[in-house]
Amino acid sequence: MKLPARVTICEVGTRDGFQIEPDFIPTEQKVEVVDLLADAGLPRIEVTSFVHPKVVPQLRDAEAVMARIARRPGTRYAALVPNDKGAVRAVDAGVDAIHTVVSASESHNLANVNMTIAESMEKLRAVMQVAERAKVSVGCGVSTSFGCPFEGDVPLGQLESVVRRLTDIGAHAIGLADTTGMANPRQVARVFEHLMPKFPAIEWTLHTHDTRAMAIPNILAAMEYGVTNFDASIGGLGGCPFAPGASGNVCSEDLVHCLSAMGIETEIDLDRLIAVSRRVQAIVGRTLPGQIVKAGKSTRRYPLPDTVASRLPAARA
Ligand code: COA
Ligand code: ZN
Repeated sequence: MKLPARVTICEVGTRDGFQIEPDFIPTEQKVEVVDLLADAGLPRIEVTSFVHPKVVPQLRDAEAVMARIARRPGTRYAALVPNDKGAVRAVDAGVDAIHTVVSASESHNLANVNMTIAESMEKLRAVMQVAERAKVSVGCGVSTSFGCPFEGDVPLGQLESVVRRLTDIGAHAIGLADTTGMANPRQVARVFEHLMPKFPAIEWTLHTHDTRAMAIPNILAAMEYGVTNFDASIGGLGGCPFAPGASGNVCSEDLVHCLSAMGIETEIDLDRLIAVSRRVQAIVGRTLPGQIVKAGKSTRRYPLPDTVASRLPAARA
């Protein structure tokens, strides 16, 4: 396999995850989780979103969260915004980066942000201007890049056209999102193989959901094509409130475990990350999908049963 030496993970659990939790997570607990994630070495955290508070009430405290987190040097704190109003709020709240959202399919874009793709592009053009004035970097996410829960297949030409429109308004970083876990590794490879040479200056990110247990295989496929930025969420939290069937993102600690087992550097402290995941489980009050919290790392060893020990050569027993 052709794999990169290092990859950059952006933690999205406090946004993609907390936005869909049935109960409102108190502000101080959100702040605690963001700070724990930064302490575990996450280089990028999508802290929250600046969207309509009635549409996503779970994140209505976005300003308060941004104001109270401890800013670890070396961590880039971002927030998701759908329009310029959100961008102004995010900049005023002191984000280091803005993540925008538009879908590759019209129906999901209408369901998610109540705009056609063309209307979203006009709003995103204004977002770019707000970000430029504030000297804040922008990453543009494309939801339903690999399939739409309403329309099914999203033709590659349609995705390419959305990517083209984003580069036309000045996007330098683009994240392809598999919003409801419809992508498969061959498709991920085909999409990046097609788009990367067409947009050679773009920094690509893959945003996965593990709805159908294909997130890590999809990440492996993307890495083979040179993608080195991946979104993940602690414990495997996550889901889109406006995409039926959406479930959690790829689990951060499971992904870091997989990468570290293959010798790929992330600069994240896996043991601390596992401890954060346990804390998040306590906060949301249920077991999360992540496997490593349950199974332990692959270096975990169990005591040998006596019946086996007595039959082993002395040196090994
Ligand atoms: N933050 C706070 N308020 C906002 C806002 C934002 N980012 N964008 C718009 N508003 C307010 C407007 O000021 C206006 O307020 P008013 O009625 O007091 O004048 C009101 O919302 C309606 O504005 P409009 O532009 O017509 O918005 P809308 O009702 O069509 O909603 C979005 C559009 C994008 C704001 C809304 O659909 C949304 O927040 N979606 C987020 C979806 C999401 O987070 N999905 C999951 C992540 S992918
Ligand atoms: Zn998502």
